[in-house]
Amino acid sequence: MGNKIRLGILGGGGDSLIGVVHRIASNMFDRYELVGGCFNPNEEENKSFANRIGVPLNRVYVSFDVLIEEELKLPVEERMEVISVLTPNFLHFPMAKKLLEKGFNVICEKPLTTTHAEALELEAIQKEKQTVFAVTYTYTGYPMVRQMKDMIRRGVLGTIQKVDLQYYQGWINPVIHKPEERAKVWRLDPKKGGLSCCIGDIGTHAFDMLEYVTGMEVKKLLADLNYLYEDNPLDLDGTVLIRMSEYCKGVIRASQIATAEENNFTVQIYGSEGSLKWRQENPNELVHLTEGLPMQVLKPGHDYLSDFSLDSSKIPPGHPEGIFDSMGNIYNGVAKALRNEVHDEGAFPTLHDGVRGMLFIEKVLDSNANGNTWVDL
Ligand SMILES: NC(=O)c1ccc[n+]([C@@H]2O[C@H](COP(=O)([O-])OP(=O)(O)OC[C@H]3O[C@@H](n4cnc5c(N)ncnc54)[C@H](O)[C@@H]3O)[C@@H](O)[C@H]2O)c1
Repeated sequence: MGNKIRLGILGGGGDSLIGVVHRIASNMFDRYELVGGCFNPNEEENKSFANRIGVPLNRVYVSFDVLIEEELKLPVEERMEVISVLTPNFLHFPMAKKLLEKGFNVICEKPLTTTHAEALELEAIQKEKQTVFAVTYTYTGYPMVRQMKDMIRRGVLGTIQKVDLQYYQGWINPVIHKPEERAKVWRLDPKKGGLSCCIGDIGTHAFDMLEYVTGMEVKKLLADLNYLYEDNPLDLDGTVLIRMSEYCKGVIRASQIATAEENNFTVQIYGSEGSLKWRQENPNELVHLTEGLPMQVLKPGHDYLSDFSLDSSKIPPGHPEGIFDSMGNIYNGVAKALRNEVHDEGAFPTLHDGVRGMLFIEKVLDSNANGNTWVDL
């Protein structure tokens, strides 16, 4: 095992979407060893999945509570050091809270919790316990997103004056028109998904990305949401006007009923000296526009990029990297923090970023419910 970080996983079983991304990401820099977890609440599936991926059954637990109880009996040098929470949204808070209270480091999926108050509670406990806590806004790990962040902080774009982020998916369209299909989707169930569907699931990615790359905070917003049917309790689509300052304004557009769109997440940042454009579906190209000059397309792994971006590529230029690599960079950032190694402040999204995400969701819902009014963050 050497100096590898002992990782546990909650959720992310064979039936899940995001589990495989975390497992591969954790292996990418050879820094973690998956020592156990509770991957599925169904005991049989939990065990057969653990067998399939080669995790010893003595540390595959029937429930989260048993995992905590048994791990705490182990000496510190054998115990899981960090635990990834990859369950549906409503379980993030109770799991993360108990993990923090017991002194575990945590990697948690977004949205961090189901309410802003819960998120603040986690932040207060973390302050006291001083543990490492990452929230996996996965897209912040891409080399070209990190290049974007670095160029903006070095002032290459001048003063930011316009921001436009679009996150369009279409997967709810075939589901939403049939009530019996709707009922099968946990993201459309307030008890499991939380206060919001579209804004909570993907609007938060756009919000986090905006604050991540610009280093600025959203101060005010006005939202207009679409629920499509009266008996559908959670939003499916939203347009959010945002103000970061009196002279920096823009829009976050998110939809899960943008028919036949796949994962069309586009980030456009416009400054007084130039602009940057990035698309998740083509993540290895960053477009740099400068007044009066031809368009430049920056690509990963080249010497002209920032150290932060170069540190996020593992292979020479021309070898496409994707979502697994992006999550891998976040796990690598967490590993550096756990081993007290020097790392960029953007190496992984923090608990505070998760708290901001929850504030965003609640304020969007408030604005929409109040008749599309401006609200302060
Ligand atoms: N960062 C990203 O880009 C990204 C992408 C997809 C999903 N997510 C987030 O990841 C989380 C999971 O989403 P998903 O799409 O993988 O969900 P999913 O429904 O596909 O998988 C959830 C997994 O959790 C397991 N599970 C449920 N209850 C459990 C319990 N009590 N104990 C242990 N395991 C339990 C299920 O068996 C399943 O394996 C959500 O919060 C979602 O928002 C993030």
